[in-house]
Amino acid sequence: MIIFAHRGASGYAPENTLAAMKKAIELGGRAIEIDIHSVEGELYVYHDRRLDHKSSGTGIISDVSREYLKTLSVDGEPIPTLWEVMAYLSKQNCLVNIELKGMTCLAPFIALYPKLIKELGFRADQLLISSFHHGFLQEFRRSYPLAFIAPLLEGVLLNTTDIATQLDAYSIHLSLSFITSELVDDAHSKGLKVFVYTVDHPEDIHQLNKMGVDGIFTNYPDKATQTLAQA
Ligand code: G3P
Ligand code: CA
Repeated sequence: MIIFAHRGASGYAPENTLAAMKKAIELGGRAIEIDIHSVEGELYVYHDRRLDHKSSGTGIISDVSREYLKTLSVDGEPIPTLWEVMAYLSKQNCLVNIELKGMTCLAPFIALYPKLIKELGFRADQLLISSFHHGFLQEFRRSYPLAFIAPLLEGVLLNTTDIATQLDAYSIHLSLSFITSELVDDAHSKGLKVFVYTVDHPEDIHQLNKMGVDGIFTNYPDKATQTLAQA
């Protein structure tokens, strides 16, 4: 199973900050998940649409200025640009799942993606691009036919795995609340990996492992590793 440090090691450090990335690597993490938004064309690593709940700021992230964003923090840690995070992770030999979260992040990300490969030295198979916005993935796929992409789903539909095959996805990312063995088997029969979010409890990890799930997103990557070692 691949263990993705969800928003970095967010159980131990402020989520989606460089501190959370460093903590994940320090804990031995080899896969990291982050969320991105665009602010005045620059990509930032941050989860929520609004700044109010998790940062020292207020307002909708895509509506503020970069100058204002620079003054904010998440529990004392700056909100990093995607480039800052990727520059750090490029030296760690890890897999990065970049979730396209913000409604305005697609165009800047399409422009940035080749630079992650050419300037930071990532291999295409180290970059897994996911989103709940499947139209974004479709457009991204048109620009980069060989990129690794993955649709995120909050629930289960009749054609759940078809959504992923139509996108020529590498994996399908499903909620712990809706995962079933049938769904895992169906995805595997279509050549898709199955990654499940967000999984922190040992019993869930054991159950998913038995189902043959290929990876999980967890806020406590070290504990998940220990749980699997006991399986
Ligand atoms: O990518 C898996 C998971 O991060 C999706 O949910 O809300 O944590 O971005 P969320
Ligand atoms: Ca996410």
